[in-house]
Amino acid sequence: MNHLKNQYEQTRYMLGQKIKELFAKDCSGHDYWHSLRVLNNAEKIAKTENCDEYIVMVAALLHDTDDVKIFKTTDYEHARRLMSDCCLTKDTIDRVITIIREISFIGTETVCPASIEGKIVQDADRLDAMGAIGIARAFAYGGNHNRAIYIPDCKPHLNMNEAEYRTHEGTTINHFYEKLLLLKDMMNTDYAKAMAKKRDKFMRDFLKEFYDEW
Ligand code: ADP
Ligand code: NI
Repeated sequence: MNHLKNQYEQTRYMLGQKIKELFAKDCSGHDYWHSLRVLNNAEKIAKTENCDEYIVMVAALLHDTDDVKIFKTTDYEHARRLMSDCCLTKDTIDRVITIIREISFIGTETVCPASIEGKIVQDADRLDAMGAIGIARAFAYGGNHNRAIYIPDCKPHLNMNEAEYRTHEGTTINHFYEKLLLLKDMMNTDYAKAMAKKRDKFMRDFLKEFYDEW
């Protein structure tokens, strides 16, 4: 048991150091701290589910290392390299790559991960897109991608497929209607559903205040 705990802590530390380097220059809300918060959320959710906590930890830390919004890698090159640098087994690498492939929000083509570990990491990632942190990240991403904060006659596009979602250019306020306010009803686990409810309310209160001030 101690041996397993040591292996968990060692991998967690080593991967943490590696992603700190990889995300060092990010100002789009996908920095090292995002991955760390996703890990913390995922570890909390994992305690409430029957799952492989080691897989959850590795997938949470690596979930954005090949995100097309940030990197131009092919076939999850970064995640594969970091895992083989840490001598993880082929079975672990395969399970983690499957999770990374499944978790992103891509409009109407978003999928529900097949494994409980994937469901947990997807929930943890989505929680970090909500609430006070989610609001901060959305505006950081918008500024980083030259998006306007808000344009009153620019309406949100609902029900976009993956290609439309990836290429359309809208405002950051629209992003709340196109993604962030949909997340509450897309959570997989009970623990995340409860956390999402609170964060969703905070975002709705923020929007109300925003329009009042506008
Ligand atoms: P996913 O893989 O589901 O996209 P990420 O961890 O990559 O999740 O984070 C996505 C985050 O990036 C969003 O929650 C949001 O904060 C930000 N983001 C993505 N697209 C936009 C956008 N069009 N406008 C503002 N923020 C965006
Ligand atoms: Ni993420």
